[in-house]
Amino acid sequence: MHPPLSRPALTRRALVRAASLTAASATLTMLAACSSANTEDDTMPTANPSPDGRTLLVFFSRAGEYYWNGGRRVLDTGNTHRLARIIGDRTAVDTFRFEAAEAYPNAYDPTVSRNSDEQERDARPAIAGELPDLSGYGTVLLGSPIWNVRPPMIMSTFLESVDLTGVRVLPFVTYAVSSAGDTAGVYRPLTRSASSVSAPFAVRGEDVDGAAAEVDRWLRRHRLVA
Ligand SMILES: Cc1cc2nc3c(=O)[nH]c(=O)nc-3n(C[C@H](O)[C@H](O)[C@H](O)COP(=O)(O)O)c2cc1C
Repeated sequence: MHPPLSRPALTRRALVRAASLTAASATLTMLAACSSANTEDDTMPTANPSPDGRTLLVFFSRAGEYYWNGGRRVLDTGNTHRLARIIGDRTAVDTFRFEAAEAYPNAYDPTVSRNSDEQERDARPAIAGELPDLSGYGTVLLGSPIWNVRPPMIMSTFLESVDLTGVRVLPFVTYAVSSAGDTAGVYRPLTRSASSVSAPFAVRGEDVDGAAAEVDRWLRRHRLVA
């Protein structure tokens, strides 16, 4: 922070120095802006408005302990959440993250047990808070992890609680070993009112942070980026 100019003690040299510091930081900021702009220009595709109106990115993601490259690891931000961010950086979307009314444990094993119980009971775990009105959207990007070879039961709660009439649904998932598993089969009966449902886009959790190019290809396929 430059000392305020009003103090009488400032010598000419001090003034010059203050001026050059200001100039330097202005240059740095501009350079930073240029370099990031360059980077963006080089890697970021041009976002296309969805061919059929606005796009909503909806996702569920659990932070906590993970199965990671054969070992375990704790993540503050879930894999699907980080993938949603990469997607959101590349195309014009409104984003809606939903969470379970009764949060899933941070630890891996109790989450596995709770999930198995929910799947066995064909449960519909409650979602916390309000759900979005989809009527203003033409496209919904629907994100989730894979739990026991399919999307978690809470995704069924979501799809049964919203009106998909006239909406095209583009599912995306993150996984450890199973790829998209039975996502298409699970979503088919839950998306009958949608105008179309694409094949799921699947990214391995451990590869999410390097998946930008794959994301671009997926978005381009669906005309969400040029
Ligand atoms: C309860 C539970 C069950 C899982 N089951 C599978 C599975 O059947 N196949 C698989 O490939 N990954 C499985 N995983 C790993 C997750 O799909 C993967 O780590 C995912 O990227 C997590 O996404 P999230 O961080 O957004 O929650 C499971 C993870 C949990 C917590």
